[in-house]
Amino acid sequence: MLEELSALKAAALTELTQAASPAELETIRVKTLGKKGSLTQILRGLGQMNEADRTTLGAQANAFNEEFALTLTRRMEALKQQELTQRLTREWVDVTLPGRPRSPGTLHPVTRAQNEIIHLFTAMGFPPASGPEVESDWYNFEALNIPPDHPAREMHDTFYLPPAPDGRKRLLRTHTSPVQIRVMEGKQPPLRAIAPGKVFRCDSDITHTPMFHQVEGFLVDEGVHFGQLKGLLEAFLVQFFERPLPVRFRPSFFPFTEPSAEVDMGCLFCEGQGCRICKRTGWLEVLGCGLIHPNVLAHVGIDRERYTGFAFGMGVERLAMLKYGISDMRALFDNDIRFLDRHA
Ligand code: FA5
Ligand code: MG
Repeated sequence: MLEELSALKAAALTELTQAASPAELETIRVKTLGKKGSLTQILRGLGQMNEADRTTLGAQANAFNEEFALTLTRRMEALKQQELTQRLTREWVDVTLPGRPRSPGTLHPVTRAQNEIIHLFTAMGFPPASGPEVESDWYNFEALNIPPDHPAREMHDTFYLPPAPDGRKRLLRTHTSPVQIRVMEGKQPPLRAIAPGKVFRCDSDITHTPMFHQVEGFLVDEGVHFGQLKGLLEAFLVQFFERPLPVRFRPSFFPFTEPSAEVDMGCLFCEGQGCRICKRTGWLEVLGCGLIHPNVLAHVGIDRERYTGFAFGMGVERLAMLKYGISDMRALFDNDIRFLDRHA
């Protein structure tokens, strides 16, 4: 019996030291000290023994009981400690690390340039107006003095859409000038507005994209002349670029203005020396303008003898390229986050 007890004790203590988790410890405890546990049974058997056996075995059994309990507690502590150490290593946080920077979104350079243009012209008394991107042939061309077979249509590389249910031609507007017509029709001077918006042309290189933005502006009243237009645009450009830059008015042609001019800015990429961006000319065209053609006024029912007006249409991407030093216009629409960050 004594031998059995010491074998049992040795086995139980070894098991305790080898247990790898609190759950395993519990299993060993039940196996030894539970209702049907090996030690429990021995202790129960003591009653039937004679005095001498009971004393020896009892003492041994109690010693076993105590040692078992002590080893169990120590092992339990050790396992808990080990578990805690593991968790601490796993869940360790270095509170001295710098935080991860969050980049809040910013406005796209084209949006910023457009907002700035709108802001400057509204400050000069031009209220904003808008028109649809899908236009009819009438608003985009005919009312602007561009009849169906006019050669100027070729300059526009128009995207045509399937005709409307009533058979009318539909197209993506090629400029913001149709908004002039929409604002003027049914009204009488004095009239003025600016109209920012998207326009579309089948065109793509470093200074052309198939979708781009224009801001149209016009004014109709008695006695309006070219000098006012020139003064207004020069004042705008100085404010927009926040410094005087080389500007030139170059005679040009638009069917809806007479006389007409295009405005070029000195190419800032080569300081006017000539590079691939300005096509070796030293100048970059930013807008078209002129005095509104009397035929256009007549189309919207305004007295062409009494009133005159000026109009202009500027390329927002071109102005943004020059203001922010962007050398390829197509980069504006690639959505490359590195480019956008650089111009945030
Ligand atoms: C026009 O579109 C005329 N409607 C402007 C106008 C309005 C003249 C009112 C007279 C009176 P133009 O095709 O030149 O003109 O375009 C005007 C400006 O848009 C150009 O100077 C240029 O800055 C910009 N632009 C033209 N094509 C593109 C393109 N594919 N991508 C980016 N910008 C362009
Ligand atoms: Mg032009």
